[in-house]
Amino acid sequence: AAETATPGSAAPDASAILGFDPFDPAFRADPYTHYRRLAAGGPLQRTEVGLWVTTSYEVCESVLRDPRFGHRPENGGIWRESPMRRRSFLTMDPPDHTRLRKLVSKAFTARLIERLRPRIEVLVDELLNGVEGDVDLLATLAYPLPVILISELLGVPPEDRDRFKAWSDTLARGLDPDFMLAASELDRRAEAREEFAAYFRELAERRRAEPREDLLSALVAVSDEGDVLSEEDLIATCVLLLVAGHETTVNLIGNGALALLRHPDQLEWFRAHPERVGIAVEELLRYDPPVQLTLRAALEDVELNGTLIKQGQPLLLLTGAANRDPAVFADPDRLDLARYGRDDASRHLAFGLGIHFCLGAPLARLEGQIALGKLFQHDVGDLREVALKTGELAYRDNLVLRGLDELPVHITRA
Ligand code: HEM
Repeated sequence: AAETATPGSAAPDASAILGFDPFDPAFRADPYTHYRRLAAGGPLQRTEVGLWVTTSYEVCESVLRDPRFGHRPENGGIWRESPMRRRSFLTMDPPDHTRLRKLVSKAFTARLIERLRPRIEVLVDELLNGVEGDVDLLATLAYPLPVILISELLGVPPEDRDRFKAWSDTLARGLDPDFMLAASELDRRAEAREEFAAYFRELAERRRAEPREDLLSALVAVSDEGDVLSEEDLIATCVLLLVAGHETTVNLIGNGALALLRHPDQLEWFRAHPERVGIAVEELLRYDPPVQLTLRAALEDVELNGTLIKQGQPLLLLTGAANRDPAVFADPDRLDLARYGRDDASRHLAFGLGIHFCLGAPLARLEGQIALGKLFQHDVGDLREVALKTGELAYRDNLVLRGLDELPVHITRA
């Protein structure tokens, strides 16, 4: 809620670059209507400053799977990426991407993550325990859960977690391209990044002196062994894990809970089918994904969907729109938790696709399933009902991430 940018607080050319105004309250409340209008203009369009934009599932899929698209060089010069951002493997191409991702991916296999289940269950119980009356579901549950988990995985001491909240609020906009931010916001973001980096540098020192059973200690050991992971890579990876793993998961829980609360028939189905919580969460991810888009550039001339994309030209992949592409999903604007099996809702692009497919997907899924399951399926203690408070909902100002400022609910206990 710290970021309440008003229209005009973005760099002035954001609308020109994108071809739509990302700060228009109507767009923020419902980007999907806008995407549909955009889709009517064809699968691949070009904005006035030369950015290619697609709403098509097929085009998104082709680009994400094609090694001829990536993150260099400089996204056609339309926008500059801050140096810090470039250094994490989220925006690297092979072979650097491959090398760095491999080091971390061992800690995120579905099997290892599944071991966290009891811990996540205890955490959700603790966070919801005794909560009653009018509450903000984001502050109560959705925010603390992911940050506690990723901190525990990395090995961040509990007493330091609160400092993260402030940095993370600022850094959440770090996923946005620079042209989205006003100069003051860019400065604040750079500052938060520096503080974050300094914090991890110091923590890494402590783990080097006294290793523990955590991811940071493991990464420090790798970094010391050879030239596979530089100190700079190490810090950038920690910051990436926190930023990529935090705000996104908050929004899975927030957007997911909101979608359920707004669709009583689906909520009823959800309550009646705890054994199908997995497929339900996939549909919630398809329907209102926390990550709405991603960017790539052509690394060489490529013919895409009959159109020549020249080397260096940037593409905006509206994966949030592709998730509602009628060519793939029948009746795409309908929330249908039982969809899976009919048109394969797990094909959604909420976690991306290809070499950058979300590394944290097993963790995010488990957190979402347990949090939403406990909220709505198995009553926690004497928790009886979670009801949406009426009133207007505000979305955070962010282009890449879609999430609420707060989610006011009323919780009744027996
Ligand atoms: C990458 C979404 C949770 C770590 C991605 C990408 C998406 C995504 C769309 C691909 C970006 C691109 O191709 O440009 C999400 C969503 C989440 C979530 C919707 C929650 C519901 C997490 C968690 C973690 C995580 C919990 C880690 C703890 C990462 C990392 C990458 C990534 C490290 C970069 C992978 C690479 O470049 O190879 N995520 N994510 N994410 N995510 Fe997630």
